[in-house]
Amino acid sequence: MRFATKALRVGQDLDPQFRAVIPPLYQSATFGWEDLDHAPPFDYTRCGNPNRHQLEEVIASLENGKHCVLFSSGMAAIVASLSLLQAGDHVLIASDIYGGTFRVGEKLLPRQGIQVGEFCAHNPQSITDAVQPNTKIVLFETPTNPNLRVSDISAVVKVAKQHGLIVIFDNTFASPVLQNPLDLGCDIVVHSTTKYISGHSDVIGGAVITNDDDIHTAIYDWNKAVGAVPSPFDCWLTLRGVKTMACRMKTHCTNAQAVAEFLDSHPRVARVHYPGLATHPDYPVAKKQMSGFGGMLAYEVDGTVAEARKACESTHVFLLAESLGGVESLIAYPPLMSHATMTEEQRVAKGIPPTLLRLSIGIEDVDDLIEDLDNSLKLAFA
Ligand SMILES: Cc1ncc(COP(=O)(O)O)c(C=O)c1O
Repeated sequence: MRFATKALRVGQDLDPQFRAVIPPLYQSATFGWEDLDHAPPFDYTRCGNPNRHQLEEVIASLENGKHCVLFSSGMAAIVASLSLLQAGDHVLIASDIYGGTFRVGEKLLPRQGIQVGEFCAHNPQSITDAVQPNTKIVLFETPTNPNLRVSDISAVVKVAKQHGLIVIFDNTFASPVLQNPLDLGCDIVVHSTTKYISGHSDVIGGAVITNDDDIHTAIYDWNKAVGAVPSPFDCWLTLRGVKTMACRMKTHCTNAQAVAEFLDSHPRVARVHYPGLATHPDYPVAKKQMSGFGGMLAYEVDGTVAEARKACESTHVFLLAESLGGVESLIAYPPLMSHATMTEEQRVAKGIPPTLLRLSIGIEDVDDLIEDLDNSLKLAFA
């Protein structure tokens, strides 16, 4: 089966009791035993649940993976994948990474006796420069947030494997529709299912996908022990979102391309970060690696910080809110939202000036999106 069909069929047979087309919701904390010799297939929802199991099956298949373990958030999934580390180990985290992951590396891991180093995913040789005898894991993502830089996944994997490292990849920004990092040699793929996978901004969730049986067992044991699990209803809602993911991603991509081209020619815009623009430095690698350029973009307003903030506050179709990957378009201001954990110097060093605005492009009529951004820039410079 191909992607769009798998999204509708894997793990989703007719309900055996009433032949319901849509899986029933098993909103039950516990399940009855027939007798002490016959435990039910799922006995307690922290350890497993039919709705969660269905979603795990389909997400694993969409990432071409053997196993998936679901979590109550993307961060819980990332922290679970890093639980493969123990005190005394060293991990390399890409310098251009989601703010929440940066926070884990800066604040949480050192407290557990884990050393954290940085590497640049654009320069895989930087892994060789930074690797230590106790390095166990490299963690990276592409396209990156908010600058939409695209690194060559296979090239990073190649160098990481020369050093025997486990490669963890956060595929949230691209979604499994646009790239499948396990196929490129990554050991673990993590997702914030909050974003494109559920797609409607109504659930928080996360997933860890792998082909490795031992890694899967360790992640599942962590999941069960820590209990950061999604509710049955959240799994049910996410599964509903999964069914339309392929279709949604096509519109996210075509709308984002049109918005990027519009902003690129706007006199009040200094720079547009979208890998689908031929002028983007990573256009060639994005074209080779991804089946579409995605729904995220960022742009630098050609003006003062006050004008950039005004533009950000002046949209009507774009909602001023954090997050991404939902059907509705959002505009965000990274210094106060996704990258608030970093200092101003850290942000500027990572190419996030205070005039940068980030867009999550939804599936509205693209002409309304373009008009809205045009008006917001007019208002900002009035
Ligand atoms: C790339 C990326 N990874 C992980 C996360 C964390 O996901 P969650 O908010 O579901 O914990 C986010 C959230 O914005 C993200 O953008």
